[in-house]
Amino acid sequence: MTFPQSSLLTAWQRFVDDPGAPFTIPGHKHRAGEVWPDLGRLLASDVPLFGGLGSVKEATVALAAAEELGAQQWGGDWCRYSTGGSTHPNQALALAVGQPGDTVLVSRSAHRSTLLGLILAGLTPVWLPNDIDPKFGLPTGLSLPALSAAVQAHPDAVGLFLVEPSYVGTISDIAAAIELAHARGIPVIVDQAWGAHLGFHPAYPAHAPALGADAMITSAHKMLPAYSQGSIAVARTGLLDRDRLDRGFEATATTSPAGSILASVDAARALLAAPIGTQLLQLLVDNVAEARDTLRREPALAGATVPGPDDFPAGRFDPAKLVVLLTATSLSGNDVERELIAAGFPLESADHDTLLPIVTMFDDTERVAALCRQLATAAARVEPTAARRRATSPVWQPPLPPAPLTPREAFFAKHERVPAEQAVGRIAAEVVAPYPPGIPLLVPGEMITAETLAALAAAARSGVRIAYAADPSLSSYQVVAS
Ligand SMILES: Cc1ncc(COP(=O)(O)O)c(C=O)c1O
Repeated sequence: MTFPQSSLLTAWQRFVDDPGAPFTIPGHKHRAGEVWPDLGRLLASDVPLFGGLGSVKEATVALAAAEELGAQQWGGDWCRYSTGGSTHPNQALALAVGQPGDTVLVSRSAHRSTLLGLILAGLTPVWLPNDIDPKFGLPTGLSLPALSAAVQAHPDAVGLFLVEPSYVGTISDIAAAIELAHARGIPVIVDQAWGAHLGFHPAYPAHAPALGADAMITSAHKMLPAYSQGSIAVARTGLLDRDRLDRGFEATATTSPAGSILASVDAARALLAAPIGTQLLQLLVDNVAEARDTLRREPALAGATVPGPDDFPAGRFDPAKLVVLLTATSLSGNDVERELIAAGFPLESADHDTLLPIVTMFDDTERVAALCRQLATAAARVEPTAARRRATSPVWQPPLPPAPLTPREAFFAKHERVPAEQAVGRIAAEVVAPYPPGIPLLVPGEMITAETLAALAAAARSGVRIAYAADPSLSSYQVVAS
């Protein structure tokens, strides 16, 4: 078989085959196994960028050459590989777009990493709501009327931040959103964390740069075969400034990047563009389509809906996304998930109303079929539930309360902890986000309302992990001190 070419993978191979006697970091020197075999196994593939993928003085040249291929592949003229997940480039882009005090337009389904980027950069968000599909209760994407109003109200905005695809696979009308923003000279940054595979096979929607986005951030470790934390940022400079992109990226990057992660990112990039990548993407779309059909017909899941690309306008749903909505069943997704975990089939996400297995190009047909069988078995085993259903998850329609302070002002303000009963009317000092999908329901600087607390309580009740809250029981909140 002809494998794709990746210069960083070749460099990684060269080093692990013959590390020599490096008097550099990492401290394990590829010799830890002589003392502790299990630790040696764990560290066997660890190669640093500096002194591993290239000499300490030349490694960045090797990395830049690989990143140049990334830029070409996504149609940009700036590309960086990161070892900090999509989190790092999301923050880097926030640091690159404007100056403290500037306004940015931000999809309200932004991930917490974007919000934290705004805090770092001192940007003030104008939040943009999603449209919700009445049939599925899923977000169909950014509300274009809301965006249109926002660009008129904030012609000085320095960036539009989108998240595409959403965690449940839906995709905004990205081209229309970009047209509205570009008409005012506003650069568009798309967090495509879940869509690294988009745009490389005709069965999938285009990736964001192909639709005109000025920057795209994607997690190579989510949908592609890369090490955890591997990610890619691509930009087309013009509305974005190259030097600011570099400075933002470096400001939040480690100075000791893992060459193994970077090599896996480059190999994943090369795979996408190679014939074998096309075959695997075809397999993925076929496997998920088959799974969708199977689950839609499964008697144990009667009433469940499994949305697919045909339920949305062309290009507005990722065909690789498998999401099972239990809203019209008497099944609790949490109970089904428990059965699946016991059977050795853990899911990426499950709550009372939703099951979300992640299927990638490395799940073969039999594995996906086995998942469907296990799902049916699990559904047949669980007791019916009478617990209340929601038309849509609160994370897709977060409250948009008044924000007396900017996120940055509230983040750095003196704060105190108050019981939940006394939190209404106070200004939030902390980020609280049900995870997945990591969309904050509580944003520093915003007024805490009864609606926000109800949304958080509903998310917690549905079985989602409430992340980042100082008090995950939600019986108290950190608020700006009075
Ligand atoms: C939309 C979105 N953006 C960014 C991130 C952060 O990605 P990473 O975990 O690669 O840092 C996530 C993580 O789930 C995400 O869902």
